[in-house]
Amino acid sequence: MSTLHLSPDTTPNTALLMQGVRFGYTGADAATLNLDRLSLQRGERLMLRGPSGCGKSTLLSLAAGVLLAQKGTVELMGREWAGLSAAQRDALRVDHVGYIFQQFNLLPYLGVLDNVLLPCRLSKRRRERAASVHGPIEGAAAALLDALELPTALHRRPAAELSVGQQQRVAAARAMIGQPDIVIADEPTSALDEDRREGFMRLLLDQCTRAQSALLFVTHDARLARHFERVVELSGVNRVDQGVS
Ligand SMILES: Nc1ncnc2c1ncn2[C@@H]1O[C@H](COP(=O)(O)OP(=O)(O)OP(=O)(O)O)[C@@H](O)[C@H]1O
Ligand SMILES: [Mg+2]
Repeated sequence: MSTLHLSPDTTPNTALLMQGVRFGYTGADAATLNLDRLSLQRGERLMLRGPSGCGKSTLLSLAAGVLLAQKGTVELMGREWAGLSAAQRDALRVDHVGYIFQQFNLLPYLGVLDNVLLPCRLSKRRRERAASVHGPIEGAAAALLDALELPTALHRRPAAELSVGQQQRVAAARAMIGQPDIVIADEPTSALDEDRREGFMRLLLDQCTRAQSALLFVTHDARLARHFERVVELSGVNRVDQGVS
């Protein structure tokens, strides 16, 4: 892993800093994202909203180093994604980021518990953090799934056999296990009914508070805004965070 590099705008409290970021998909006529600045402090909760197709999921992929910006800088936990090899990016991501993808990205033929345990299998840091709270990491996975009301009978079933709402909860448990420093959630409540949505939000916020995880949360649901310290709107030509901390 590369040595920690703090840019002049980064403090030890900064979980994510994106500056002057421009990104366009190959073959696209115009840039998908132009972002002057977006910062997220440790433990902070930020909600991102905007119309379909405005670039929210793209921004999350850039934040997590899944995509690399053509211009500007994106730093996570003081490390700039562009300065790392692909293997270093994978290691930084699994150590520090819990990501609930819009399409879940579960491994379909793997059992539910094994899907949730993936970050612990790939990251010593996540494994030790999960074990410090629950003992065996399987206990940590089961506790998260229980809290998300996923029946125990489903724990060993292949993820592909679950309903969409159930898969979304498995994806959430996988993101939360081992107390990542930043949780990135792309419309994580879209497939949940109203009761489950409230329970899900309580658990997610509670987990983030306990682990001091920063939360970057995309949703179309304006009712969820009350849970967040900052709401950033992505729209128009220039997509800018007005509420820089
Ligand atoms: N892999 C890709 N290749 C080419 N273009 C893409 C790709 N992914 C997204 N886009 C385009 O980039 C733009 C932004 O997409 P993105 O998925 O970030 O939007 P979004 O705000 O998350 O939308 P939604 O609310 O519907 O999830 C869209 O115009 C989309 O067509
Ligand atoms: Mg999206």
